[in-house]
Amino acid sequence: MHNAIPVIAIDGPSASGKGTIAQLVADVLGFAYLDSGALYRVVAFAAQQKNIDWNDAEAVAEYAKTLNIQFKNGQVYLNATDISDEIRTEAMGKGASQVAVHAPLRAALVELQHSFCQSPGLVADGRDMGTVIFPEASLKIFLTASTEVRAKRRYQQLIGNNQSANYESILSDLQERDARDKNRASAPLIMAKDAILLETDQLTISEAVNVVLQNYQHKMYE
Ligand code: CDP
Repeated sequence: MHNAIPVIAIDGPSASGKGTIAQLVADVLGFAYLDSGALYRVVAFAAQQKNIDWNDAEAVAEYAKTLNIQFKNGQVYLNATDISDEIRTEAMGKGASQVAVHAPLRAALVELQHSFCQSPGLVADGRDMGTVIFPEASLKIFLTASTEVRAKRRYQQLIGNNQSANYESILSDLQERDARDKNRASAPLIMAKDAILLETDQLTISEAVNVVLQNYQHKMYE
């Protein structure tokens, strides 16, 4: 289905650097970028505004179908309101991982995610890009780092965004979120069989970007 248009799928756990790396790879190649985690964050945010319980699978999925979610210039809009800052909190990260366990919600978001696959190409970041959403991707990367390094990165990211942050609680939230993402029945976080593992503890962002680009060049001329 997506054979004609190249897709680079970048999956991995929270705070592994996926978002930054995927966005930079997309910029270099002139490709579109899909931040699929933002979709789950928007749904968590919208459901909370509407007093819909994050655990109510059907209600969350039905409500998600009514939402108009758009990305413009790196900002995220819900029904034409910019909610980029509101969805970037740790609370919405947790909420996202709670709503993301629901199969009906995941199904409701498939078409929207596919619509990002446009010429000349797409870099898609998430948990199930290479396994479920774009199984035919030209290149699949599984990006990871140790829990401690990821907690430090998330801590610095929050402080950089002028949000309050506590290292210990970030670490325990990450562990909880990793466990929920890996153990859910629907589209769990696992490395696709044909993915390349990229462990980033010892890599700078630009080194990681280069590894992805080199692998992509390699795949294209295989
Ligand atoms: O920034 P971080 O990696 O922590 O989170 P995110 O990529 O914004 O995703 C937030 C949550 O959405 C994750 O913990 C997952 O539970 C969920 N998610 C998902 O289930 N599938 C995706 N393709 C992307 C995110």
